[in-house]
Amino acid sequence: MKVTISVIKADIGSLVGHSVVHPKIIEIAKKEIANANKKKKIIEDFFVINCGDDLELIMTHRNGIDNKNVHGLAWNVFIKCAEEAKKMKLYGAGQDIISTAFSGNVRGLGPGIAEMEFEERGSDPIIIFMADKTEAGAWNLPLYKIFADPFNTAGLVIDPKVSKGFIFDVLDTKEGRKITLKTPEESYELLSLIGAPSRYVVKSVRRKEDNEIAAVSSTEKLSKMAGHYVGKDDPVLIVRAQSGFPAVGEVLEPFANPFLVSGWMRGSHHGPLMPVSFSHAKCTRFDGPPRVIAAGFQVANGKLLGPVDLFDDPGFDYARNKANKIANYMRMHGPFEPHRLPLEDLEYTTYPEIEKKLKDRWKKI
Ligand code: 13P
Ligand code: 13P
Ligand code: MG
Ligand code: MG
Repeated sequence: MKVTISVIKADIGSLVGHSVVHPKIIEIAKKEIANANKKKKIIEDFFVINCGDDLELIMTHRNGIDNKNVHGLAWNVFIKCAEEAKKMKLYGAGQDIISTAFSGNVRGLGPGIAEMEFEERGSDPIIIFMADKTEAGAWNLPLYKIFADPFNTAGLVIDPKVSKGFIFDVLDTKEGRKITLKTPEESYELLSLIGAPSRYVVKSVRRKEDNEIAAVSSTEKLSKMAGHYVGKDDPVLIVRAQSGFPAVGEVLEPFANPFLVSGWMRGSHHGPLMPVSFSHAKCTRFDGPPRVIAAGFQVANGKLLGPVDLFDDPGFDYARNKANKIANYMRMHGPFEPHRLPLEDLEYTTYPEIEKKLKDRWKKI
């Protein structure tokens, strides 16, 4: 019997600006899921956690992706939590609930969604990455490294089950279209697109040999859904590991270097993505720097064993130190690019007003 992993997330309000989800909200979410499931069994197992100010619902079930009952359950949890957040006057209460018109699916309503369905292997390790203060395309670089870069993933060279390559499904968020590209043979074409993560976003990765799902990300762009800035996408990513997929350590390896992502303060700055333990997923310095956590689970008969807090490892201390150095260096630029995002990618801007105010003072050159 197939199992589905659904990770559905939303920022429904937070404690002290955009720092963390209030512990009471996490309790409410857990209780709501358990109660809903008592009335009607929809899911097999679940785990609720926060990454900074984002509430993350990790669920397993037998209903496949885009299931009305599963999405409905998550939606009700967010609505209940947002109601409480409003009562508590938490910051940005209801932030990611952009539309309340639920009709069977949370896509397009504000939450981020990553789901995959597969037949459980003899042993099935998965890693769920969750980020705060960054955009959906932040997974492009690590996904390329995990599934297509032999300098990252030894298995691409030495494991015959992995070396046949992978298929990347890429969305063009500007034009609303998608494309499928194969690695290694189309690596350069792939990189030419996904190297522009504000526009092109890797939605999923499959094994070329048998089309088996290997990774799925949330690609919802909040500002596109809302038509204006409400908060950053703060995406999630599910990756399967071992036995025909990259090993757990190969999946984590790209995060040993804190690459630059966009997000951070007001969603409008480039900064390093810092891998941290669950307890350090709390963006404070200039509302950042952007964070990523990794929750490892074994999926066993539809249940989740774990999580293991995978970045809670001194092996990532160097990445954290380096991220702090990069953060200082980037901050030194203040309002200048490339710390500040280019004009077209800015989430907040006074630019049109300034143009208007100064319009009669420009002189032809
Ligand atoms: P073990 O020999 O510890 O199972 O490790 C194999 C492996 O895949 C390491 O990445
Ligand atoms: P979030 O997207 O995490 O809510 O952060 C918003 C923001 O503007 C931080 O400065
Ligand atoms: Mg927020
Ligand atoms: Mg957030």
